Amino acid sequence: MDSSGKTKKLTAQDIRLKKGHDKIVMATCYDYTFARLLDDKVDALLVGDSMGMVIQGRKSTLGVTTEDVIYHTQAVMRGSRLAHVIADMPFLSYQCSREDAVRNAGRMLAEGGAEAVKLEGGTIMAETIRYLVACGIPVMGHVGLTPQSVNVFGGFKIQGRTEDSAKRIFEDAMAVAEAGAYSIVLEGIPATLAAEITAKLTIPTIGIGAGIQCDGQVLVMQDMLGLNTDFQPRFVKRFANLGEQVSQAAGLFAREVRSGEFPGKEHSF
Ligand code: KIV
Repeated sequence: MDSSGKTKKLTAQDIRLKKGHDKIVMATCYDYTFARLLDDKVDALLVGDSMGMVIQGRKSTLGVTTEDVIYHTQAVMRGSRLAHVIADMPFLSYQCSREDAVRNAGRMLAEGGAEAVKLEGGTIMAETIRYLVACGIPVMGHVGLTPQSVNVFGGFKIQGRTEDSAKRIFEDAMAVAEAGAYSIVLEGIPATLAAEITAKLTIPTIGIGAGIQCDGQVLVMQDMLGLNTDFQPRFVKRFANLGEQVSQAAGLFAREVRSGEFPGKEHSF
C-alpha cells in the first residue's frame, strides 16, 4: 500500500468514482525516473503535450507529435505501478477525422501503454469522444483555456470571463460529459464557473487555474517542483525549489572536478 492508500493500479473507472469522495491528484510526467518518484503519491500521471514547452523548449504545445507522446508514455509506463496514466492527444492527431482520432488514440494505448487519452475541445469534439469511447478508449476531456487554441485566444489568457464565453465553456463541459468522457480538465477559468460546472457534472473535474471547488487538481510537474525558475503564473504553487537545488548541485560538481576534489578515494577502484 502506498501513502495515498493505493494497492493496485488506478483505472479510469476508479478516477470517475472518486467524485464526491476523494480529491483527485494529477501531475504531468514525461519520463521513467520522475514516474517512479511520483507514482505512489498521485492518482494520475498525465503525459501532457506541455512536453512541447517544458521538455522540448518550444513556445507552445503545437509542435508535439503523436510519436513524441507515445515515446514519453512508454517511459512513464515503465516507472508507474499504481497511478493511472493518461496520454495527451497532440494538435492535429484527432481534429481532422474520427478515423485519425481512433487510430492515434489507439496507438497511445497499444504502443504507448497508456490507460486513457486526453483531448482538448468541447461541443465540437463530442462526436469524436463518443466514437473513441465506443471503440474502447477512455477519454478525459479538457475545456476552458485549451493551449492548442492559443492562436485563437491571442495568448495564454484566462477564458470564461464574459457571460457568453462562460456559457460556451459550461455547454462544452456538458457536451464532453454527455459524450462519455470519464473526467474533464478545466483550465484557466474563473473559480465560480468551475464550481458551477463541478456541481452540475456527474464526472469529476480536474482543475488547473480553476479554483478550489474542482474535484481534483493538476499541475505541470516542472512548475510544481520549482524546476522552471523563470515561470510562476498565479495558478502555480511551487512545492519545492528544485531548480535552485539542481543549479547549486551542478555548480558544486563542476567546482570539485576542477579543483581535483572529486572523485575521492571512496569513489575510485
Ligand atoms: O499538457 C498538459 O500538461 C495539460 C495539463 C496542463 C492539463 O494539458
